[in-house]
Amino acid sequence: MLCFVYAGLLAAGVVQLAHAATNNTINSQLRLAYAGDTGMYVSWNTFEKLARPTVHYGLLPNHLNMTASSNVSVTYPTSLTYNNHVKITGLKPDTLYYYLPEHLLHMNSHCPYTFITGRPAGNPAEFSVAVVVDLGTMGSQGLTTYAGKGVSENNTLSPGEINTIQSLEKFKGGYDFVWHPGDIAYADYWLKEEIQGFLPNTTIAQGFHVYESILNDFYDEFTPITAYKPYMVGPGNHEANCDNGGYTDKYHNITYDVSICIPGQTNFTGYRNHFRMPSAESGGTGNFWYSFDHGMTHFVQVDTETDLGHGFVAPDEPGGVEGEDSGPFNTTIDAQTKWLEADLASVNRTATPWVIVAGHRPWYLSNANDSGTICWTCKDVFEPLYIKYGVDLVLSGHAHVYERQNPLANGIMDPAGLNNPKAPWYITNGAAGHYDGLDNLQYPLMDYSRFGLDTLNKTYGWSKLTFHNSTHMTHEFVASKSGEVLDLATLYKARK
Ligand SMILES: *[C@@H]1O[C@H](CO)[C@@H](O)[C@H](O)[C@H]1NC(C)=O
Ligand SMILES: *[C@@H]1O[C@H](CO)[C@@H](O)[C@H](O)[C@H]1NC(C)=O
Ligand SMILES: *[C@@H]1O[C@H](CO)[C@@H](O)[C@H](O)[C@H]1NC(C)=O
Ligand SMILES: *[C@@H]1O[C@H](CO)[C@@H](O)[C@H](O)[C@H]1NC(C)=O
Ligand SMILES: *[C@@H]1O[C@H](CO)[C@@H](O)[C@H](O)[C@H]1NC(C)=O
Ligand SMILES: *[C@@H]1O[C@H](CO)[C@@H](O)[C@H](O)[C@H]1NC(C)=O
Ligand SMILES: *[C@@H]1O[C@H](CO)[C@@H](O)[C@H](O)[C@H]1NC(C)=O
Ligand SMILES: *[C@@H]1O[C@H](CO)[C@@H](O)[C@H](O)[C@H]1NC(C)=O
Ligand SMILES: *[C@@H]1O[C@H](CO)[C@@H](O)[C@H](O)[C@H]1NC(C)=O
Ligand SMILES: *[C@@H]1O[C@H](CO)[C@@H](O)[C@H](O)[C@H]1NC(C)=O
Ligand SMILES: *[C@@H]1O[C@H](CO)[C@@H](O)[C@H](O)[C@H]1NC(C)=O
Ligand SMILES: *[C@@H]1O[C@H](CO)[C@@H](O)[C@H](O)[C@H]1NC(C)=O
Repeated sequence: MLCFVYAGLLAAGVVQLAHAATNNTINSQLRLAYAGDTGMYVSWNTFEKLARPTVHYGLLPNHLNMTASSNVSVTYPTSLTYNNHVKITGLKPDTLYYYLPEHLLHMNSHCPYTFITGRPAGNPAEFSVAVVVDLGTMGSQGLTTYAGKGVSENNTLSPGEINTIQSLEKFKGGYDFVWHPGDIAYADYWLKEEIQGFLPNTTIAQGFHVYESILNDFYDEFTPITAYKPYMVGPGNHEANCDNGGYTDKYHNITYDVSICIPGQTNFTGYRNHFRMPSAESGGTGNFWYSFDHGMTHFVQVDTETDLGHGFVAPDEPGGVEGEDSGPFNTTIDAQTKWLEADLASVNRTATPWVIVAGHRPWYLSNANDSGTICWTCKDVFEPLYIKYGVDLVLSGHAHVYERQNPLANGIMDPAGLNNPKAPWYITNGAAGHYDGLDNLQYPLMDYSRFGLDTLNKTYGWSKLTFHNSTHMTHEFVASKSGEVLDLATLYKARK
C-alpha cells in the first residue's frame, strides 16, 4: 500500500532515495522526549548502525521539508539493535509536527507520525499527563493470563482483560505525555520466568537473547503511544539490574549464581543507551535526573537508585541494599542534591506554580518497613528540599500497589489535607503491571493513608494528573481493565 503522504513527498522531490530499503534498517521502538518547548528528541532502533541518523519533519503531512541528523547510533554488548537518537531544535512551542525517521521514508507503507511540542512555561491552559511506574512487557513474555510457579492467581490478567499499555493507547487523546519513573519492561525477569517454568529454559550463555527479546517486545508494544507522545523516563532498579537473576539478594536471603549477570543487564547499560532525556537542557545527569517545564508545571525526575550523595550508599550502588553494583553516574560531590536544590530554587512559581517530583522509590507507604521497599536514605536527602521549596506532589512506585496519602512533612500529616497544605502530597502507584503482578499493602494501613489498592483488588492501573489552573490539580487512578476512575482527589493550593 502506498501511503499518500509518501507519494506527496516523492512528488515534491524532497527526498533523495539514495538506497533501497533493506530489512537491516527496519526501524522500530520509536520514541519521543521533550527537549525544551522548542525541541524534541526522536529515537528509534535499527538492526544496523546508522552512519547519520536522520529525521524528516514538517508542519504538513505531505511536506516533511526539514531534516535533523546526528551521529548517535549506539549499542552495547548483548544488544540485538542500535539505538539512534536525533535532537530536533528550532521548533515552535505547542505545535503539531509530522515526522519520519529517514529509513521509513523508503518503505512504501509508512505515513508520518506526529508530535506536539511542549507547552511554553506559563501557558495557563488545562492539560493532563499519564504516569506509570513499574510497567512491564505484556503478552507471552510478560504479564498475561497465566504465569509460572508461585505467582498468585490475583496477579495474572483475565482472558480479554485490557492491560495498562492498551489502556494508555485507548486514552491517548487525553494526555500530553507519558511519565515512567522507573522499572521499564522487567527484561531482567528472564531468568525468574525460566526458573518458574513460564518461559522455556535456555543456557546461561543464551540468556541474553531472552533478556533482549523481552526488552524489544516492550518497546515495540509501547510504540503506538511513544511514537506520538513524549515518553519521559526515570531510573528504577530493574534498569540496573540483575534482580531475579545472578546475584545475592541480601534482603530476601537468596543467592543466585553471580555469573548469570550478563553484560547488557548491568549498570543501567540498556537504559543509558536506549533513552535521551533533557538533562543537557536542565543541567541534570544523563537519563538519571533532569527537569522540564510544561505549561503551568515544572516536572522533576530524581534518581533514587544511585548518587544520593551525603555519604549514603544508594540502593543500586556497589554495596547497596539491592546488590546491583551500578553507578554512580556523577563524580561531583552530592551532585544530584546540589542540582535539585538549584533547580527547585530557580523555579518561577508565577509561570509554573506547580512543582511535581517523581522518584522510583517511596519512603511513606503502608508496607513492611523493609529496606528493599522503603528508601529511608532517599527521605533523608530529598524530603528536606521538597519541604523547603514547596513541592506540590511527590510520585513513586517500586512497591506494586497504589496508595494515596495525606500531605506529609517529616512523617507528620498536614492538618490542611488537600485544602492548601504546606507539606508535599505523596502518591505511590506501582500498579501498572508486569509479569508477576501486584504486592500487598500492610494492614492496618498507616494513619496517613487515604486510599489503597493491592493484590487483593486484582486491578492494574495508571495515574492521570490534570492541571486545571494555577490553584487546582486532580489525580485519578484509572483502572486499566475498565477505564473506570477508582480514586479521584483534587489538590487546592492558594497562590500568591
Ligand atoms: C527482519 O530481520 C529480522 C532479524 O533478522 C527478522 O527477525 C524479521 O523477521 C525480519 N522482518 C521482515 C519484515 O523481514
Ligand atoms: C517548510 O515548510 C513550511 C510550510 O509547511 C514553511 O513554513 C517552512 O519555511 C519550510 N521550511 C524550510 C526549511 O523550507
Ligand atoms: C558527533 O557529533 C558531535 C557534535 O556534533 C561531535 O562533537 C563529535 O565529534 C561527533 N562524533 C563523531 C564520531 O563523528
Ligand atoms: C527450567 O528449570 C527450572 C529449574 O531451574 C525448573 O524449575 C523449570 O521447571 C524448568 N522449566 C521447564 C519449562 O522445563
Ligand atoms: C538466610 O538463609 C540462611 C541459610 O538458609 C539461614 O541460615 C539464615 O538464618 C537466613 N537469614 C535470614 C535473615 O533469614
Ligand atoms: C554532574 O553534575 C554536575 C553538577 O550538577 C553537572 O555540571 C555535570 O554536567 C554532571 N556530569 C554529568 C556527567 O552529567
Ligand atoms: C557504571 O557506569 C558509570 C558510567 O560509565 C561508571 O562511572 C561507573 O563506575 C559504573 N559502575 C560500575 C559499578 O561499574
Ligand atoms: C516569572 O514568570 C512571570 C510570568 O511568566 C514573568 O512575568 C516574570 O518576569 C518571571 N520572573 C522572572 C524572575 O523571570
Ligand atoms: C516504619 O518505620 C517508621 C519509622 O521507624 C515508623 O514510623 C512506621 O510506623 C513503620 N511502619 C510500619 C508499617 O511498621
Ligand atoms: C486473591 O484475592 C482475594 C480477594 O479478592 C483474596 O481472598 C485471596 O487471598 C487473594 N490471594 C492471594 C494469594 O493473595
Ligand atoms: C480492595 O480489596 C479489599 C480487600 O478485598 C477491599 O476491602 C476493598 O474494598 C477493595 N477496594 C476497592 C476499591 O475495591
Ligand atoms: C480552577 O479549576 C478548578 C477545577 O476545575 C475550578 O473549580 C476553579 O474555579 C478554577 N479556578 C479559577 C480561578 O478559574
